[in-house]
Amino acid sequence: MVQLDWSNLKFGYIPTNYNVRCYYRNGKWGEIEVSSETTINIHMAATCLHYGQEAFEGLKAHGCKDGKVRIFRMRANAERLQSTCRGILMPEVPTELFEEMVTKVVKLNREFVPPYGHDASLYIRPLLIGTSAQVGVHPASEYLFIIFVTPVGPYFKGGFASSNYVIIREYDRAAPLGTGRYKVGGNYAASLAANKIAHDKGYSCEFYLDAKEKKYIDECGAANFFGIKNNTYITPKSSSVLPSITNNSLQQIARDMGMKVEVRPIPEVELSTFEEAGACGTAAVISPIEKIDDLENGKSYVISKDGKPGPWSTKLYNHLRKIQLGEEPDVHNWVTVLD
Ligand code: PLP
Ligand code: COI
Repeated sequence: MVQLDWSNLKFGYIPTNYNVRCYYRNGKWGEIEVSSETTINIHMAATCLHYGQEAFEGLKAHGCKDGKVRIFRMRANAERLQSTCRGILMPEVPTELFEEMVTKVVKLNREFVPPYGHDASLYIRPLLIGTSAQVGVHPASEYLFIIFVTPVGPYFKGGFASSNYVIIREYDRAAPLGTGRYKVGGNYAASLAANKIAHDKGYSCEFYLDAKEKKYIDECGAANFFGIKNNTYITPKSSSVLPSITNNSLQQIARDMGMKVEVRPIPEVELSTFEEAGACGTAAVISPIEKIDDLENGKSYVISKDGKPGPWSTKLYNHLRKIQLGEEPDVHNWVTVLD
């Protein structure tokens, strides 16, 4: 077992021993290769470098009390990557190949899975890139699918604690019929300037309204939004948000707990009516929202009056964490257990 300061890990990159790779050439996927190189050698005219033929995923493996490692919703990540591949004309990575590579890279780096009890996990980062040369704007004929892993701590300092957001209107992260629903690097490039403005103003993160009308809620930085009122979990229906697997899981858990779930456009003004709200994603699970400021309109939507996570958010968070850790029955078949 490697010795790391498990309780003080950041959400950053720490080298591990191995990554796994698979090349797509001549219309088919090759054999899985194990590598200890951290670099890749690609053509300078590769489509990933010029035309953004790049997609990634993010999921986690958890070290559990019973000594086992549990990977959360690997299949859903494989399916979302396939949807991204269709969106930017890359060959789909078959689910079996994706699952075999994820499992293999976690097992190979078993000693880097943070042990139970440190609020840390092994972050798994699959990456698919177009590698062959193109000067005209066309998809590549060759691709590299690579997965690396790195131990991470909480995404936001303090873990499950409330954060402040600010609505940014000067930048859109994605257009209604653009690539927001795919996990491609360009969306994150488009978000960097807005994210910097939010940080410079002292907020945890930027908050996006829909790009067309600037009227409805889209996303909280690189996370989905949910609001809660009257025993109902409400989350945006929008063609430009990433279909978050955490959000999908929380909706299911909310239903299992007897809450109603609504997926519909949420006007900004409705923010003043929520009893609780949160940002959700793999990295943070739930990051409860304390307030959202709309500086241009001089509004501040204070959602948590005492600055603490609300009761429903806490229940949803704890339940999801317990499923991930094998402490609640996995009734929806979300977890892959490694001995
Ligand atoms: N929205 C964006 C833009 C993201 O990058 C992510 C992170 O993957 C999410 C939402 C949350 O998705 P998930 O819960 O699948 O991690
Ligand atoms: C998430 O996992 O919630 C993310 O937003 C991942 C991010 C580091 C791209």
